[in-house]
Amino acid sequence: MSNTLADWSLDVDADEIAWLTLDKLDSSTNVLTESILDQFVAHLDHLARLPLRGLVIRSGKGNGFIAGADVRAFTPMASREQALTLIRRGQRAFDRLEVLPFPTLALIHGFCLGGGLELALACRYRVARDDEATRLGLPEIRLGIHPGFGGSMRAVRLLGGLKAMDLMLTGRTVSARQAKRLGLIDHAVPERHLHSAARTLLHDRPSPRHARRSERLSNHRLVRPLLAPLLQRKIAQQARPDHYPAPYALLNLWHRHADDPQRMLDVEAASVAELITGATAQNLVRVFLLQERLKGLARAADCQVKHVHVIGAGVMGGDIAAWCALSGMTVSLQDQTPERIAPALGRAATLYARKSKDPRKVTAAWDRLIPDPRGRAVARADLVIEAIFEDKDVKQALYRDIEPRLRADALIATNTSSIPLEHLAPALEHPQRLVGLHFFNPVAKMQLVEVVRGQLTSELAVQQAMAFTRAIDRLPLPVTSTPGFLVNRVLMPYLLEAVSLETEGVPATLIDRAAVDFGMPVGPIELADSVGLDVCLHVARILAAQLHTEVPERLEELVSEGRLGRKSGAGFYHWRKDRPHKPRPASGHYPFADLTDRLMMRLFNEARACLREEVVADRDLLDAGMIFLTVASIALSLALMRTGGAQYLAQLVNAAVTIINAGVGIVATSDP
Ligand code: NAI
Repeated sequence: MSNTLADWSLDVDADEIAWLTLDKLDSSTNVLTESILDQFVAHLDHLARLPLRGLVIRSGKGNGFIAGADVRAFTPMASREQALTLIRRGQRAFDRLEVLPFPTLALIHGFCLGGGLELALACRYRVARDDEATRLGLPEIRLGIHPGFGGSMRAVRLLGGLKAMDLMLTGRTVSARQAKRLGLIDHAVPERHLHSAARTLLHDRPSPRHARRSERLSNHRLVRPLLAPLLQRKIAQQARPDHYPAPYALLNLWHRHADDPQRMLDVEAASVAELITGATAQNLVRVFLLQERLKGLARAADCQVKHVHVIGAGVMGGDIAAWCALSGMTVSLQDQTPERIAPALGRAATLYARKSKDPRKVTAAWDRLIPDPRGRAVARADLVIEAIFEDKDVKQALYRDIEPRLRADALIATNTSSIPLEHLAPALEHPQRLVGLHFFNPVAKMQLVEVVRGQLTSELAVQQAMAFTRAIDRLPLPVTSTPGFLVNRVLMPYLLEAVSLETEGVPATLIDRAAVDFGMPVGPIELADSVGLDVCLHVARILAAQLHTEVPERLEELVSEGRLGRKSGAGFYHWRKDRPHKPRPASGHYPFADLTDRLMMRLFNEARACLREEVVADRDLLDAGMIFLTVASIALSLALMRTGGAQYLAQLVNAAVTIINAGVGIVATSDP
């Protein structure tokens, strides 16, 4: 027997097992919408009347089970009541699933996230395909909310408070095997055993998994008051409640209501309705949608580039080459001597070891990465990426040398961070092939790439550069060829203002504190020290001339004294073990509000000017640039110094929220 309700299809086999398959129409990924939930409930009502041995819920999409609730439905959310109605609908659907009179099973492959995992948690059993593509998690916290379709309650019940809180507070995803170890699923099995594992469970009907006694202990009403303050302290190290209320709300929900499931469901719904209509969640959803927009600007499938020739194996060129080879491109890497290429290969080894556990993939990446000190492969390349010294004449000489050897349709991309393309293009016979691909350091961590269009750059070159950026799994941000493009232009005046304040006598510690109090993850003085004062000076000199601002003498002084910041052990601060020593400021009157205004207004004004001068095409792209470039670089430099990835993410999110809450979003989205 079979039955179809648009997005779902139902088959009941000869064993009286019902197979309910979600294959959302007009979409490559399954997400939960109101309509899909309504259809789901209609199916469940129908099934409840049948004499069944069991129900299997699965996905008809190749890429996964269900990636979560449809984020587009979250914004704009008109009112708390509207949000509550939506959440209640999801809760009721999964409650209905939980009380069916026969066993239920979620058959999981690929993404099983957010609402998708909440659905699976309402089933009696869960079986997942054991391969690299399967990822399970409750990442709602990253959108400034927490699970709302009963997932908080069911995760706590199934895993115990500590494990469930860890999963939900970090928003991390786990593989099928990790999920099995955690107790989140019953079996992790290879593809070929998926169906038989499901059938066996529905036939044998073992009692469903419950949290072990030791896991349940953390939910005890006498233990929760002891654990909650510890968890709260951990959360407070990463996010402030006014910037990022979701983790505090989730902790509170568990702390107060973990032993009353019905009450927990009610409060869960109310809490998510409150969070989702708040500024933080609305902004984080917007960040998510901006990221989707950048992804949608070009398609990896349209990329014609197969062979990339990188010239300059320094900090940037070496890492760009390694990343491209790991992403499947054939890469030849040129520098002045083989000795200059060697360190880049050493860094590639570290990157490959970190990024892939599969030795075959690593070997394949090495096979694609070809050292080419004499530049012989340049004639075969589809794309040449130039990443040599930041010097107009040196770059022009190189272009004159290589262009006669290039294929007629080959593109040249420069990684220059400050030289307008118009200053480089005159060296070329065919300047329309020159485009900017401005990667950020470190290449493997920074997702965004500014794709720079010069006045003479052809549309085809821009489109190919964008598609290439997607093909190597980076986010392209199209910008025009103006000094500093977007990110350096916006960041530099802010850093220079901080240096000026310090020169005027405001202690560095106070300047940084003002920025951190505002919500930046790290202050501008500490940031300058960690980027390197010589690097700051170099970019500042180029930009200051173009933007009619001064390079503070203090910066010149420090660099000439060899005080380069963290890397030399001293800059504005003294550094020990990669940490700055921040002296307690002498007492004195330093108007704090003024400090913050002076710092942040430089950043906002420059962002505004970029919009006016059409450095980026519209307000959304400006916001995307501000968030993914500026904030990412600030957060990253801090994270690289101190911590691993998780904290980086938290800080990025924290800073993103702050910066949009504080007005960059408003700068970009309000009318002038
Ligand atoms: P780097 O100094 O580390 O490396 C430059 C490499 O180019 C050196 O290995 C040098 O031997 C080689 N080179 C110079 N002239 C050459 C030629 N004619 N033929 C072949 N190889 C040549 O420089 P880095 O930092 O990698 O910067 C490269 C470019 O990337 C610059 O345009 C810079 O502005 C830009 N950039 C740098 C960033 C950074 O954080 N370092 C960030 C974004 C862009």
